[in-house]
Amino acid sequence: EKEPTRVLVTGAAGQIGYALVPMIARGLMLGPDQAVILHLLDIEPAAEALNGVKMELIDAAFPLLKDVIATTDVMEACEGVDIAIMLAGFPRQEGMERKDVMSKNVSIYKAQASALEQQAAENCKVLVVANPANTNALILKEFAPSIPEKNITCLTMLDHNRAIGQIAEKLNLHASDVKNVIIWGNHSSTLYPDVNHATVTTTDGVKRVRELVADDHWLNKELITTVQQRGAAIIKAWKLSSALSAASAACDHIRNWVLGTNKGSWISMGVYSDGSYGIQHGLIYSFPVTCKNGEWSIVQGLKIDEFSRAKMDATEKELIEEKELAYSCLGQSI
Ligand code: NAI
Repeated sequence: EKEPTRVLVTGAAGQIGYALVPMIARGLMLGPDQAVILHLLDIEPAAEALNGVKMELIDAAFPLLKDVIATTDVMEACEGVDIAIMLAGFPRQEGMERKDVMSKNVSIYKAQASALEQQAAENCKVLVVANPANTNALILKEFAPSIPEKNITCLTMLDHNRAIGQIAEKLNLHASDVKNVIIWGNHSSTLYPDVNHATVTTTDGVKRVRELVADDHWLNKELITTVQQRGAAIIKAWKLSSALSAASAACDHIRNWVLGTNKGSWISMGVYSDGSYGIQHGLIYSFPVTCKNGEWSIVQGLKIDEFSRAKMDATEKELIEEKELAYSCLGQSI
């Protein structure tokens, strides 16, 4: 029998945590044959709530769930973990400056980088969800130099799935018929959902989305804004930040990474840039990737038109600024 996989969820007493842990325990992240041990971390004020989550996990009697460790000690939480899902963050509160939010978050990620580096299993895969996701992941990467940079990623799969959802609605098709959209850049309102390479499976075979959606205004403007602003639209409607869709996207991200992407299709992932598509080396930037044998690689050779280039550069610029801000919060220069 396979050893159980140890999955760390930080900020596990929060909203996404509550949606995510049952998905992991049901095998939606690592497959129906893979047993798991959940390591749940939160901070002291949330300790009682965290224990409540643990009680519910026990009550659900999940066959794949072999144990639950719930703790407020980051070193204990990180011990031996194979996968780390980082939901822990400090939310922006009314009246707070961008710099204050950044400062709180980068210090969390700097501290957790060092705990992971010391305690995690070799080859631990890390997914940062908490915002600013790309920059938190960057700080984690820079302050955990012994973790291979390939192992540190951030979530843009929610934006990817949102773009697919919008196209499927527009064409009155099912989401599983749409593939190969791309999210470029930062998980923020500058992200660029690119549909130039996206295809749809129809009864007449595979067609390009651009061929089927004749409405250029919708493709070049409305779709982009809808995906960029979807997080805010969910908060307006549901009164809380997206949780079930974020949890589901986190499962998609890890499942594809560990078990591989389907033949002929890619996903979007925030990964460190090796300079592909002219993006500054070392940034955590969302690219189209395929995965095989537990490793991602950036899809190469896609044709980029002028419209896309400008949008890819704008979101890169924002990430460079975030990086500078993050370092100035840590009192260091880059
Ligand atoms: P939440 O506020 O409900 O949960 C966050 C949890 O983190 C809380 O339980 C809090 O006590 C805990 N926490 C704070 N500091 C901690 C620390 N140092 N160590 C351990 N735990 C700590 O927030 P929610 O809705 O679950 O969202 C989590 C994060 O994910 C937020 O930053 C949110 O902006 C981000 N997000 C990212 C998305 C993406 O696509 N990348 C999509 C949706 C949300």
